[in-house]
Amino acid sequence: MTPMEKDPSDSMYGIKKLIQKKPDTKAIIGQFPGRLGLFIFDTELIKEVLTNHKYYSKLNSENELSLLINARGITKAEGDDWKLHRRIISEAFQYDLFNGMVPVILDGANEILNLSDKTPRTLLLPNDIELVTSDAVTRIFFGLRSKDLIINGKPASEEATQIIRKNAEFSKRGIQLLLGNWPMNLSSSYRKHKKRILNFRNVFRQKIQERMQQIQSQEHQEKKKTDLLEILLQHRIKHNNDLTQTLSDEEILDEFAVFFLAGKDTTSLLVSMALYCCVTYPEWGEKLIKEIHEHVGDLKEFNVESLNTMNVMTAFLSEVLRMYPPAPALLMRTANCDHYIGKMFVRKGYIVNTIFLANNYSPKYFKDPDHFDPNRWMKTEDKDEGTKNPFAYIPFSAGQRNCIGKHMALIEAKLIICSILKNYKISLDDGFKLKMGSHSIGYGPAEPIPLKLTPLSFYEK
Ligand code: HEM
Repeated sequence: MTPMEKDPSDSMYGIKKLIQKKPDTKAIIGQFPGRLGLFIFDTELIKEVLTNHKYYSKLNSENELSLLINARGITKAEGDDWKLHRRIISEAFQYDLFNGMVPVILDGANEILNLSDKTPRTLLLPNDIELVTSDAVTRIFFGLRSKDLIINGKPASEEATQIIRKNAEFSKRGIQLLLGNWPMNLSSSYRKHKKRILNFRNVFRQKIQERMQQIQSQEHQEKKKTDLLEILLQHRIKHNNDLTQTLSDEEILDEFAVFFLAGKDTTSLLVSMALYCCVTYPEWGEKLIKEIHEHVGDLKEFNVESLNTMNVMTAFLSEVLRMYPPAPALLMRTANCDHYIGKMFVRKGYIVNTIFLANNYSPKYFKDPDHFDPNRWMKTEDKDEGTKNPFAYIPFSAGQRNCIGKHMALIEAKLIICSILKNYKISLDDGFKLKMGSHSIGYGPAEPIPLKLTPLSFYEK
């Protein structure tokens, strides 16, 4: 086996170069402590994995801290339980909720990024954008600004972010990987952290109960469905609290954590890389800015339909997701039974993953794949194979368990980008060189991108 090429400025360099030299590579094998890992590139084999979820379990799903956070959420649920969660959330993710999100996200971006500030300054990406995307989850879910919900002395989204970080730190400790959860409980910092999570849950549980009382005191009058909690509780009332048909308080709480985990980093990485590309590929940056100024009069009048008609923006984001996919692979899985993927025998316990990013850089699917070209998503003729094959380009995964937050993420990303570009000219610090690596749960800048904002009013003088 030849070792993969390395480049310190890009953790995915080896995979990109491998697929460019050998575009017909079907899979690669890796060695993990005590087991083999199979990383699939071939689109037919990816399809097989994504349509046979029953053969796999998510790695680490028995981790105590992660169970405390979202044991009953959609990402962990399996079988009929998963179907119920997926159906209820899909029903909730409808036009009314999405349209209701628009002013909520704009308001959050405006307030957190201080967009009315008319002095030049620098944002650090993705960290500053993460403040907006994490606050957005609290607003969309609970209808509350994060800063209006103080938990353990901090705004809710900040506390959630810190809890998740700490969980990851504890999970990396060898002792837990080796012996499971119980020895961790000997450590006082671990026990303290668990208490912190339980307190976090208590505050949110109380919010859910308060809202339920409010809804019931209005004698079940349907309120406008502007936040997810309202929709999920109305669903419960409609199903007479039958928990085989609807979600309990604990499941709703777990879904909040799932959305937080799944949505905040991925979306902030997409926005960050889009802003980076806007500066680095100025011919496309200018086209995007032109479309924003032509389409968007007053941001307050914006809605989902106006976002959907922004063709340059849609193609631009598709290309950003091709070159810089925030989720370059599935969450790690292990095979829970012996089976075959194509002709490859997979033994129970093997690690299995599909590397989405590989085909994004394959000349078989995208002409000149290292070149940033949103036009490949706008063409009607001579289209790249990767824009046609349903398993070649899948930044949101595919099959039954694809990303349920895809539309939410794209709406959020478009709104944050419009809010910034409508108010500022953007540039990068001189000499900045992008390094890509693993960022939280995704693939993103290994070091913050310093994005300079100069108010447009400066140029009008
Ligand atoms: C650019 C942003 C995003 C990207 C690239 C992305 C990507 C993905 C991918 C690749 C998966 C499959 C993971 C796996 O099966 O291992 C996934 C699943 C999921 N995503 Fe996203 N995601 C994004 C934003 C969001 C947002 C904003 C939310 C919710 C607020 C969300 C919620 C979920 C959930 C709940 C699942 C699991 C679905 C299931 O198991 O049925 N995602 N996402």
